[in-house]
Amino acid sequence: MKILLFGKNGQVGWELQRSLAPLGELVALDAASQELCGDFTNLEGIAQTVRTVTPDIIVNAAAHTAVDKAESEPELAHTINALAPGVLAQEAKRLGIWLVHYSTDYVFEGRGNTPWRETDPAGPLSVYGRTKLAGEEAIRATGCPHFIFRTSWVYATRGGNFAKTMLRLAQERDRLTVINDQIGAPTGADLLADVTAHAIRAALQNPDVSGLYHLVAGGETSWHGYASFVIDFARQAGLDIKVAPEAIQPVLTSAFPLPALRPKNSRLDTRKLQHAFGLHLPHWQSGITRMLSEILVRSEWV
Ligand SMILES: NC(=O)c1ccc[n+]([C@@H]2O[C@H](COP(=O)([O-])OP(=O)(O)OC[C@H]3O[C@@H](n4cnc5c(N)ncnc54)[C@H](OP(=O)(O)O)[C@@H]3O)[C@@H](O)[C@H]2O)c1
Repeated sequence: MKILLFGKNGQVGWELQRSLAPLGELVALDAASQELCGDFTNLEGIAQTVRTVTPDIIVNAAAHTAVDKAESEPELAHTINALAPGVLAQEAKRLGIWLVHYSTDYVFEGRGNTPWRETDPAGPLSVYGRTKLAGEEAIRATGCPHFIFRTSWVYATRGGNFAKTMLRLAQERDRLTVINDQIGAPTGADLLADVTAHAIRAALQNPDVSGLYHLVAGGETSWHGYASFVIDFARQAGLDIKVAPEAIQPVLTSAFPLPALRPKNSRLDTRKLQHAFGLHLPHWQSGITRMLSEILVRSEWV
């Protein structure tokens, strides 16, 4: 089997390079790739890449993920998040192959406190959310066999992340303020990549599994709960933490005005995915504990 992966150096793309490798020959690209075009602003170029590689499956981990920046560059975000996935889907349809794609909790407007199901109406609040939703619709419109995995609050050991920022700040400051009215589930790029590999194997056996799935780690928390967990773990691991537990203060989203609005309710209901693939999604704390164990050993947050 030949797999064509776009966005190979992002958080999810990097982990996919690992999890997809045992499934077959992997052709992995990013925007800077030379021999084959992996740049999503070049729509004809990526179509040509698919035609040249003739893969058995396309996996797209590339996206315009700079949520606030997208507010001031909506056309670029639309090209990368909506038009390019649409082009890949057209090529997948033409070849009769699968397309795997990732989307986001930001397609929801975020009211209430019930986890969103795949059948719930979307209502994005931001350019990023609208362009990601348009990408989903463009893929569905082609009728190619596909997986669209909506996820939230993605972190990876590699590169910067929220936990690393909190560790650094907790060592520098004696007081922190962290948002506590956005609720979701921190989800590891490694979990996303592993579930993707499982799903691809299932798809090869049963094409009926094509569709939209919510894919996040188990449980829920706020950014404040997430930060408190990270800092508490680091304190217990012997790190020199300056901020006292009671000095990590919860604040409302309105305390940190940003260009893009975020959904308050980012809970995603994952029962459809767990049932379809017979998978168990571990609690968010188990993935974060693992990531923290790795970065603390290597002092990677400094
Ligand atoms: N991060 C989150 O919290 C989150 C939450 C929900 C859903 N998702 C979705 O999950 C998927 C993976 O996200 P991630 O967290 O892995 O994001 P990421 O780390 O930002 O990776 C995105 C990748 O896309 C690449 N990219 C940007 N512009 C491109 C272009 N013009 N052509 C080709 N590649 C381009 C980036 O390259 P450069 O770095 O070189 O620009 C980067 O390698 C995305 O579909 C995202 O929308 C993410």
